[in-house]
Amino acid sequence: MKITDTSDVWWKTAVVYCLDVETFMDWNDDGCGDFEGLAQRLDYLAELGVTCLWLMPFYPTADVDDGYDITDFYGVDPRLGTHGDLVEVVRTANDRGMRVIADLVVNHTSNKHPWFRSAESSIDSPYRDFYVWRSDPPPDTSSEVVFPDKENSIWQLSEKTGEWYLHRFYRQQPDLNVTDPKVRDEIAKAMGFWLELGLSGFRMDAVPFLLETSGTDRAEARRLPDPHEFLRQLRSFVGRRTGSGVLLGEVNLPHPQQAQFFGGENGNELTMLFDFLSMQYLYLSLARADAGPLAQALTARPKVSPDNQWATFVRNHDELTLDKLSDAEREAVFAAFGPDPSMQVYGRGLRRRLPPMLDGDPRRIRMVYSLLFSLPGTPVLFYGEEIGMGEDLDLEGRMAVRTPMQWTSGVNGGFSRAPKRRLRRPVVSGGYGPEHVNVADQRTDPDSLLSFMKLLIRRYRECPELGWGEFELLDQPHADVLAHQCRWEDGTMVAVHNLGAEPRSVPLTLDGCDSTHRLEDLLQDGSTPLSDKGKAELRLEGYGYRWLRVTSADSRRLV
Ligand code: GLC
Repeated sequence: MKITDTSDVWWKTAVVYCLDVETFMDWNDDGCGDFEGLAQRLDYLAELGVTCLWLMPFYPTADVDDGYDITDFYGVDPRLGTHGDLVEVVRTANDRGMRVIADLVVNHTSNKHPWFRSAESSIDSPYRDFYVWRSDPPPDTSSEVVFPDKENSIWQLSEKTGEWYLHRFYRQQPDLNVTDPKVRDEIAKAMGFWLELGLSGFRMDAVPFLLETSGTDRAEARRLPDPHEFLRQLRSFVGRRTGSGVLLGEVNLPHPQQAQFFGGENGNELTMLFDFLSMQYLYLSLARADAGPLAQALTARPKVSPDNQWATFVRNHDELTLDKLSDAEREAVFAAFGPDPSMQVYGRGLRRRLPPMLDGDPRRIRMVYSLLFSLPGTPVLFYGEEIGMGEDLDLEGRMAVRTPMQWTSGVNGGFSRAPKRRLRRPVVSGGYGPEHVNVADQRTDPDSLLSFMKLLIRRYRECPELGWGEFELLDQPHADVLAHQCRWEDGTMVAVHNLGAEPRSVPLTLDGCDSTHRLEDLLQDGSTPLSDKGKAELRLEGYGYRWLRVTSADSRRLV
């Protein structure tokens, strides 16, 4: 691989930023964010160093699941703007060096989608087979629902025909039947439409559920086409249409299945997968001040083909799921970061943002983001993380972390000039409210979290070994320290993070290095010589962190 490959395979070293147009910036003062508002903030995102925007669903919706219940795959929710406004955003983002991807929610439609309205009206509807039906009463499926606070079965009786339809999520989100070739064609067509308007790919929602063939018996399932073949088709379709488009998949499954969703050694299914396991073990490591669980999750990642990538993240728009931890591990994370039942949701996760979970400790917050950006993979931020926004536990469920972006210390945090009562969602109040946490103040403060995030992003972009390289844990004696290196071509980057509150002195030995090499600090001033045997001793404050580039006298890399 050459440095010039980073432009073709741009997503391997990208910085992805997820936002919801409706809570980002309201330009027409109706209380709801819009594309015009987003357009006004593209320069801010470019300045931050973002290279790829991920737009949460902006399609017409019945709004039962915050836009994840779509009524028209080709539309734009009129509250947010028009197709024209979207195209302007995409073009302007492209000009500022950012690509745009969007949520593709095709496991299900809204029950208000015309396909479902037709499908449920009669068993002879031409759209009947777009969904999954059963005529006999379903067994108890209460353990299979995704939202146990609202649902206790994945089957819902439809009065009109007396049959049950499958829904993995809310009952208002009937699952599409992707074993039907017509449905597959419709999905590809909708993707083609948005790609034509300039999108660079999709964040694919709920992929394992999409592929699953519930409702068909085993013998029939065997006769059906291989569901993974569908993903391969979509990947090559996106490749054909765009040359470099991506599919970033939500696949929260154990490693062996994740490997399958990448397409195994061929790497020809999902381009990228969120690393849900490392995310969960990161929190366990933080809770226990023990780098072990995270280190294990990182080393256990299946090796992926050069045509794939892991997407790393600390928080997203959903609950911080801890579903892959054991009960005792989950309890440890709950106890550390969300002991009050009001902070927990679905019995498996936390509905909080990072800074309040860490009691606002700036050293710890920075250490976590430093760690995120130093891990091998492509980092994904959720809007507001860059300024350290908090949550609003008075809002329902996952909405706690989906409050309006805080731009200024002014009215409504500068998000909107509409009367407060008309805001799509209230702005956070209290210690994390806009008087204390906002973009305008942090932009001009070199010591702010925002300035720190910009530095991390700049360094991340200067270190393609993080996206491309070989990851290796470095031996050192402290349980609360994670030391690792990423090597690619002639570049080696070392990162050391102290997850504990005690200062540490970390002895490291770097293979292949000797006294002709040095370690140059990348986040602060500093330079550490290596001994004949490649040894160095690095000092870390409590919750301290360092990024270091290995250099030698003949190295041509700029430090
Ligand atoms: C995904 C989304 C989540 C949504 C669900 C149903 O898990 O991340 O927000 O509710 O799919 O579409």
